[in-house]
Amino acid sequence: MNIGVLGAGQLGRMLALAGYPLANRFTFLDTTGHPSAGIGDVMVYTDQHHLDDFLGKVDLVTYEFEHLPVALVQAIEEVKPVYPSSEAIRVCQNRAEEKALFDRLGIPTPAYRLVEHADELEAAARELGCPVVAKSVTEGYDGKGQAVIRDPAEAAEAWRAINHPRLIVEAFVDFVREVSIIAVRGRDGEVVFYPMAENVHVDGILRYSLAPMPDLDDSVQLVADDYIRALLDELDYVGVLTLELFQTRDGGLLANEMAPRVHNSGHWSMDGAVTSQFENHLRAIQGLPLGDTAARMPTCMVNVIGREGDPAAILTMQDAHLHRYDKAERPGRKLAHVNLLAPTHEALLAKVRACAALLPEAPEPRFSFE
Ligand SMILES: Nc1ncnc2c1ncn2[C@@H]1O[C@H](COP(=O)(O)OP(=O)(O)OP(=O)(O)O)[C@@H](O)[C@H]1O
Ligand SMILES: [Mg+2]
Repeated sequence: MNIGVLGAGQLGRMLALAGYPLANRFTFLDTTGHPSAGIGDVMVYTDQHHLDDFLGKVDLVTYEFEHLPVALVQAIEEVKPVYPSSEAIRVCQNRAEEKALFDRLGIPTPAYRLVEHADELEAAARELGCPVVAKSVTEGYDGKGQAVIRDPAEAAEAWRAINHPRLIVEAFVDFVREVSIIAVRGRDGEVVFYPMAENVHVDGILRYSLAPMPDLDDSVQLVADDYIRALLDELDYVGVLTLELFQTRDGGLLANEMAPRVHNSGHWSMDGAVTSQFENHLRAIQGLPLGDTAARMPTCMVNVIGREGDPAAILTMQDAHLHRYDKAERPGRKLAHVNLLAPTHEALLAKVRACAALLPEAPEPRFSFE
């Protein structure tokens, strides 16, 4: 089976690494001009000729990047099966569509407004009550295209800074922690769920993911399972889907956003789960049985961002697994991650601190359970 992947970054790289044992081959189609997968057959898309070439090689198509022209994915769908479908991309690449779907399915979200003018932004900030977060409806990632507004008077400046024709404005959630749920749906509609992760973001970028998250109440996991199952079924989805949520003081969950792909908050599963998110995504899209999602042990994923430090020092740690993406160092760039395993959350926390001390750019790890 030759699997075509739209996008050629580290997620595609890790998909390929998981697929080789299943005798899969990989052809990547990069639309950014900067492929970094460094594995498989990488093609840079500029015109129809490249697309035809790509389609001639692959049996089915998936993606590791959702900021793609929907028309391109629809055109591909005419020729080869695409999992998840172009409809999933259309919804997930647009925060307005995403929130409308959450609303329709009864999945709670922070209060929000859509605005198309600086004055409307100011009015929304007043109505919702500051602080609010303004986000471009399309193209954002790693906190880019966002601004926190602490006073309605800051709206004009935020509008200029984001510089996008349409924004979503959300009430700022005073969350206890950020969490995510990852689930996989097979071609036959079977769904499996990973244990939820607690995610620590600093300046809008994910730094740490810990799963199964500490103090994970069964009832909370079941609520998250229900939300993501509703999304999967509604989109007739095939593959891995990620839902990012805020957990509030009363234990409730508010949906932030979703990603129609394998996700950074699921990288822990490469070493910490019986079956990784990457393998399960490949199983799902090929119509194979889905693998066990159980955690082997409490696991924490530590992102290596900007500068790598000394890989050898990390490798001296026990049950530490370094995954490097073979990318050049650059401020704010995701270069690698480390998965750390320990029998208890307390022991894991000590390991995470030791690992962070070895990474030149790692912020101090702070979790809700400390
Ligand atoms: N309404 C909100 N209230 C409080 N914090 C928020 C809110 N929206 C976003 N944030 C913070 O900003 C981070 C990034 O926001 P969000 O996930 O919407 O954007 P993104 O740039 O698409 O991120 P990603 O890299 O996950 O795609 C969140 O993880 C959270 O820490
Ligand atoms: Mg996010």
